[in-house]
Order: sequence, then structure tokens, then C-alpha cells
Amino acid sequence: MRLLNNSSYFSKEPEYVKDEPTRLPLRQGALRLIPFRGLILKQKLFIRKTNQNMHTLDTKSLKSWFMAHQRELPWREDRSPYAVWVSEMMLQQTQVAVVIPYFERWMKRFPSIQALANAPLDDVIKVWEGLGYYSRARYLHQGAQQIVQNHKGIFPQIPEELSKIKGIGPYTVGAICSFAFQQKMAAVDGNVIRVLARYFMIEHDIAKTKTVQHLREIAEEILPEKEPWVINEALIELGATVCMRKPNCGACPLKKGCLAYRHNKCEQLPYKSSKTIIQRLYRSVAVIRSGDSLLIKRGVLGEVMSDLHEFPYMETTSTGGSGEELKEYIEQLCGTGVMWEYHLPIVKHSFTRFRVELKPSVFSVRKQAKAPASYQWLTISELERLAFSSGHRRIFHTLQQRKAMS
Ligand code: ADE
Repeated sequence: MRLLNNSSYFSKEPEYVKDEPTRLPLRQGALRLIPFRGLILKQKLFIRKTNQNMHTLDTKSLKSWFMAHQRELPWREDRSPYAVWVSEMMLQQTQVAVVIPYFERWMKRFPSIQALANAPLDDVIKVWEGLGYYSRARYLHQGAQQIVQNHKGIFPQIPEELSKIKGIGPYTVGAICSFAFQQKMAAVDGNVIRVLARYFMIEHDIAKTKTVQHLREIAEEILPEKEPWVINEALIELGATVCMRKPNCGACPLKKGCLAYRHNKCEQLPYKSSKTIIQRLYRSVAVIRSGDSLLIKRGVLGEVMSDLHEFPYMETTSTGGSGEELKEYIEQLCGTGVMWEYHLPIVKHSFTRFRVELKPSVFSVRKQAKAPASYQWLTISELERLAFSSGHRRIFHTLQQRKAMS
């Protein structure tokens, strides 16, 4: 038996209906027995169409669990729409532990929408450096400028207006409306998808928009009238800490009603057809010195590394290009002769679906040539204020350490 906590067909009293809740076998005109203040009443069903396949979840147990087990997180102390927006953008595809220091630094450096809107893009990217998926930082910057220009710097509360802001998709609209404005709106991210797909044993492909839309509708149905934002956050927390990819069902407050648990299918759900294909890249990197300056490329808009800085490099095979090939490549690039000085340790890093191995070597030029298109000669102190892609930042750090020691 399962508690139907937001049914509206008869009364406001909670009621129990037969199991297998995703499809309630109720017909128009059927007789049904309902307990009411110690009596059993017979009542003819008259169901509004919208209520026919109502989904219910034990929100009471979920809320109690959340109150007892929720983590203390910096963005839970500040429910301003700006803080919610920043934290939710950071939390997309990134783990909580990684996000915490970034969120704290960001809020110190850009404490308001106005401060963010007025900041130079390079400063914004620099604070985001290392968090990956940099389009999120650019969207926050552009979005802040939109809010200042179109809404006098005040966050709109209407979902349609919110979704016009750069980078704000359905999940972020739900999160801002729910956590900041305390509206009754679902916020369905990957954590919530996992919880609901298991609880209601939804076996459809979550790579399909239709399935996610269905889960979003379910999430709307289960939200209670009272403090719906707590349930949204509790679903996220459950997905992040208990109902994880490898679930810890023993600790789950919803296991009694969870269909996947009952059918031993938690490990198989949710089902996702498209798996990301990992691609390996091998690159020979040239750190080219001219006095105190280094030759640097800034990624242009539209490239994976847009607004990030990198040393010149060439793609090689897994066994690595020869030093001679790299020397030729950079001599052509610089239009001048270069001298090989030394190797730096190999650096491995990842971005999006790529796993990259970087083989850096240091070269010097006697006479600084004109920088080729999209490259610049930048001094070490200029570079310290700019953002590198993560592998190239590590090369830069190693170089600085060597300089400090020599
Ligand atoms: N992941 C996405 N949103 C979150 C939130 N508000 N708290 C914790 N983890 C999250």
C-alpha cells in the first residue's frame, strides 16, 4: 500500500491506494471504500482526467531524512537568486566538494549581479579557472549583463523571463524559482532523474527529451503545497548522497516505496542509451621563451578552449612526435630559428570527453619575432592574471617552480 498524499478526488484526507503506483487502475464510476474518521465510506469515483495517473511519493519521510542528514553547504546559507544561480551553474557536471571553494571565491570576488556584470571577462574566466565547461562562466557574465540592462539588475521571478537569460535552462529556472522565490516548481537535474526513475521504475531512455519531460511532470505531481522547495532540495540531496549511480539503498528513506528496489533493478536504472565516447589526444607542447616573455595562444570564441590560454602545440600519435618535428613546427609558426633547451614532465589532463597527454619542451628564441595571428608574447606577470586550460596551467607552474629554484 502506498500513501496518496496529494490526491484531490474526494477530500483533503490522505488515502491509500493499491500498489504499482505509476498506473493507478481507477475507472470512472467505480465504487471505492475509503476510511474516514473511523468509518468506512463508499464513494463513487469521479476522477478528473488530470488525476488519473497521479504519482505519489512519501514526501514526509523524505523531508524528515533531509532535515536530519542534509550537508551544510555555503549556498544553502544564502538563498538570494544570484547565489542560487551561481551555485547551480557551478554544480552542473561538477561535484559538490569541487564547487565549494570556487563558489566561495566567486561570491567574494563578484558579490552581486552588478559586480559580475561590470567585471572584465578575463577576470571572470580566471576565477572559474580549473572548473571546466567554461561556457558556464561566460553565460553567467552575459546573463548578469542582461539582468542589469533589461531588468534593472533585479532577477525576474517569472519563469518565461528567467529562461530568456543566457545559459538558464529548465533545471536552473526550476531551481531559482523554487529555492530563491519559493515557488512550487520542480527542479529536475541528474540527481532527481536518478531518484524518480528508480522510485517509479521508469525504464525509458533518459537520453530522450520525452523521458526527461515525463520525469519533470512526475516531479511536479509529487511536490506538496507546503514548502515544496524542501522536497526539491531533498530529492537532489538524496540523489547526490544515497541514490547515487551505485546506490546505497540501505540508507534510503524511500526504499519501502521504491519500485526499482522492490524489483531489484536499482543498479540498472536509470537507463541511458548514449554513452559518451572518450577520445584520447597526444600533444607535443612548445614553451617558447624570449627573455621574460612566452608565446601564448588565446582560444577564440567557438573553440573548446575559448578565452583560455595555452602554449603552442602540435597533435601527435600515441608514441609522440619527434623533437625535430616540433622544432620545425614552431620555427614555421614563429618565422625564426629556435633553440631546444629542456623537456618538462608529461602532464595528463581531461576536458569534456577528451583525455589528453601533453609532452612539453622548452625552447628559446634569441630575437623576439612578431607573434603569429591569435598568438601573443606575454610576460610571466601578465600570465599570472590570465586563465590557462588546466594541463597548460600545470606546465606553467612547473616552469615557474624551476625558475624559482634556478
Ligand atoms: N546539485 C545540484 N544542485 C544542488 C544543490 N542545490 N545542492 C547540492 N547539490 C546539488
